[in-house]
Amino acid sequence: MAADLKTLLRSPAINEWKLFWWLSVPMGLYMIVAMLLRDMATAEGVSAMITSSVRWSMPWLYLAFIASSLVALAPGEPSRWLLRNRKIMGLCFATGMAWQISFILWLVTRHTDYYVNEVYVLRDVIEGLVGYSFLLAMTVTSFKRGRQLITPQARHWKLLHKAGIYFLWAYAFGTYWYSVFYYDNPDWVHYLYYWLGVAALSLRIAAWVRKQTAGENAQPAMAALGSLMILLGVIGTATGSLWQSLAHRHLEGVGWAMPLELYMPYWPFIPYLPMFAMAVGAYLLTRSRQVG
Ligand code: HEM
Repeated sequence: MAADLKTLLRSPAINEWKLFWWLSVPMGLYMIVAMLLRDMATAEGVSAMITSSVRWSMPWLYLAFIASSLVALAPGEPSRWLLRNRKIMGLCFATGMAWQISFILWLVTRHTDYYVNEVYVLRDVIEGLVGYSFLLAMTVTSFKRGRQLITPQARHWKLLHKAGIYFLWAYAFGTYWYSVFYYDNPDWVHYLYYWLGVAALSLRIAAWVRKQTAGENAQPAMAALGSLMILLGVIGTATGSLWQSLAHRHLEGVGWAMPLELYMPYWPFIPYLPMFAMAVGAYLLTRSRQVG
């Protein structure tokens, strides 16, 4: 059985560029059929295509985001297959987002009034353009030539790809947090991609904790505080609708922070507060094992 799985997951048919076409061709076919079935002469039709293209892109972003963590937490053929094809997952995400930006440009150029009145928010555009800049740089440096040109040093490549994937995860996660806990009538996809976003970052935190030296619990108080922070974070991920208005009341509209609110991506980080608590808790937990 294990040998069969190994042979299957190592077969050229589901690795590298073959895998890329298996994943991106159905995505492209769906976009073409959906365009034919929707009224692309209306802003609503084009906006629906923006949403569809992102929803087809999200699985590849999350899979690329968790690839290295899965190998640390569940070493085996499946996790190694995913890590081996992390670049392909990234390129499938980039392909889906290439569809999204083509529909965005269609909306902005052909339905400008709708875009200006219904969609345009300066801070969202700044976040989106930074996101696409990261995505473009990550895509180009996924190829040998691009990597030599832009990030000849391995540590620069690592920094770009780590900062980029966290920025893109944060964009998607923040969008779905607002859909689930702030705006009305979230649909099942909003919940699915929100909770997959929580699971993806939780896997990265767990893999980081696993990688730290597991010494004795030299500092029980710090360990207890760490566990409490993780618990608060976990509760916070499920109760956003209870605390979001309090957070917005106290963290938004703050005089000195107005320039940050206008221009700084994701400020004041309200959707990420529970994840911050979990990360700080994990840090305290590992530190409690290392000190003394
Ligand atoms: C300047 C760049 C961008 C613009 C103008 C833009 C614009 C839009 C628009 C108009 C929608 C549809 C809103 C609706 O009608 O519901 C949307 C949805 C979305 N966009 Fe973007 N976007 C940009 C960049 C990005 C980037 C970089 C990401 C990164 C992952 C992203 C992720 C999303 C997500 C997750 C949704 C929600 C889709 C859903 O409802 O499932 N966008 N965007």
